[in-house]
Amino acid sequence: MADREIKDIVMDKYARAALRVIAGEGSSCCGTASSRGECDPITSRIYTEGETAELPAEARAASLGCGNPTALAELAPGETVLDLGSGGGIDVLLTAKRVGPTGWAYGLDMTDEMLALARENQRKAGATNVEFLKGEIEQIPLPSGSVDVIISNCVINLSADKDRVLAEAFRVLKPGGRLAVSDVVVRGPIPAQIRRSVELWIGCVAGALEEQEYRDKLARAGFEAVDVEPTRIYRVEDAREFLEGAGLDVAAIAPQVDGKFMSAFVRARKPAR
Ligand SMILES: C[S@@+](CC[C@H](N)C(=O)[O-])C[C@H]1O[C@@H](n2cnc3c(N)ncnc32)[C@H](O)[C@@H]1O
Repeated sequence: MADREIKDIVMDKYARAALRVIAGEGSSCCGTASSRGECDPITSRIYTEGETAELPAEARAASLGCGNPTALAELAPGETVLDLGSGGGIDVLLTAKRVGPTGWAYGLDMTDEMLALARENQRKAGATNVEFLKGEIEQIPLPSGSVDVIISNCVINLSADKDRVLAEAFRVLKPGGRLAVSDVVVRGPIPAQIRRSVELWIGCVAGALEEQEYRDKLARAGFEAVDVEPTRIYRVEDAREFLEGAGLDVAAIAPQVDGKFMSAFVRARKPAR
């Protein structure tokens, strides 16, 4: 599939998710709508109630990440933070509180409907140190060396050109700047057809990176101090309904997939010079 085609599929999927939230129907959009919802093992129970209590309900409802990068990244007052693929804006609004009035939180998203939802959530939250930018994470519309921290929540796995995303992240970070993202990562080799089915269940349109591949790509982009920390490991049982629907014998493939897909917190640093 061509990169543009993948991007169009992703954009359409998240446009529909944003419209569902705006219509008050909840956001669940990755994988099959029937098996994903309140009990979605990937996007549910990511934030504590305390963390999100003050955010607009629509920001919580639009949460489609697979981790909590703002809790894991060490954000300091006054910092400039960029969220790649900011969706309904939940992580940007949480970041804005952490960096305070002297800091700034940018959200970047390519989907107009998500941007409209995020800007409405910003208005409801009364956040003044926030800006949502339209654009693609493969071509970040910010100057080089302008950002202290890049966060992202389950978006890099959606990109068909991950090298480009990591190169762009490196470019916009200041020397010594940090990358601190949640993403879906695969551990070890998995047969292609099975891998593809599990990825579709997770919602990885373009495919998730294998852990060592991720580390190598970050190093090639120029990053140092690379770390990949699992935050949630997926069991084959979580995906039973979906995989059976794809014609796979779940008992037979279990040894090849069980525990090999995970949400992970990926950290790296741009050298100080
Ligand atoms: C899985 S959702 C995550 C949204 C948000 N980070 C969250 O945690 O709720 C993916 C978001 O990334 C955006 N996105 C996906 N690929 C993108 C790309 N290549 N450039 C910009 N935005 C992208 C989609 O429009 C969507 O809003």
